[in-house]
Amino acid sequence: MRKKIVTANWKMNKSFTEADDLINEISELLAEKKESEALVIIAPPAVYLELAGDIASTEGEFEVSGQNIYQAESGAFTGEVSAMMLKSMNVDYCIIGHSERRKYFNESNDILKQKVDIAINNSIIPIYCCGEILPEREAGKHFEVIQKQLEEAVFHLDHDAFSNIIIAYEPVWAIGTGATATPEQAQEMHAFIRENIEKKLGKEVAGKTTILYGGSCNSKNASSLFSNPDVDGGLIGGASLVAEEFIKIVNSF
Ligand code: 13P
Repeated sequence: MRKKIVTANWKMNKSFTEADDLINEISELLAEKKESEALVIIAPPAVYLELAGDIASTEGEFEVSGQNIYQAESGAFTGEVSAMMLKSMNVDYCIIGHSERRKYFNESNDILKQKVDIAINNSIIPIYCCGEILPEREAGKHFEVIQKQLEEAVFHLDHDAFSNIIIAYEPVWAIGTGATATPEQAQEMHAFIRENIEKKLGKEVAGKTTILYGGSCNSKNASSLFSNPDVDGGLIGGASLVAEEFIKIVNSF
């Protein structure tokens, strides 16, 4: 059985004190009220990774993820964070290729491929995001766009490396807009992604790959999204910033 996962992407939100409160609140609620088998991963801003990691290691109810890494091992890249740095802080996951990184930081599939490789070389599990913008969906090009994002950034990986990545489908038109993909739209794209993985890497890897949905996922729509056979959980933005709401999503399987 592949893993069910709910990941919180806090993006660029919360002061240190607020982050401390939220992570403790989530941790306590997970200990008291977690009813699902889902693995919970929290991706706070990089400056709070140590805080989150300390709480995760004492409470043990969740794992910690970075939101981004730079595409070089080390060196003169002022302001950037490397995969090795994350690993040295016991962080095992990193979001790579979020649409906000693609849009605001011009991250191309080629750059993302380098980030994926460097993550894997440092034993960090990439949570690789793909997703189409609205005009692409309206033009009926969404499958083509997703296929290209996979081809150019993750389909070079071999069987073993691919067995260690997580895919997140995040239609850009659904992110932060309240316009969630319908369960049918999510299932259709997740099945397409899995078929493509199968073509490249075989049935076993395809069957084991966790594919998350992201884009205005909340406690009201999570169970109808997660009940689809190819939707293995969620990558949650806004709704992960409120502990009670996030726990309801975790319990939506
Ligand atoms: P929202 O849940 O706020 O739409 O964000 C989704 C997202 O981008 C998670 O990475």
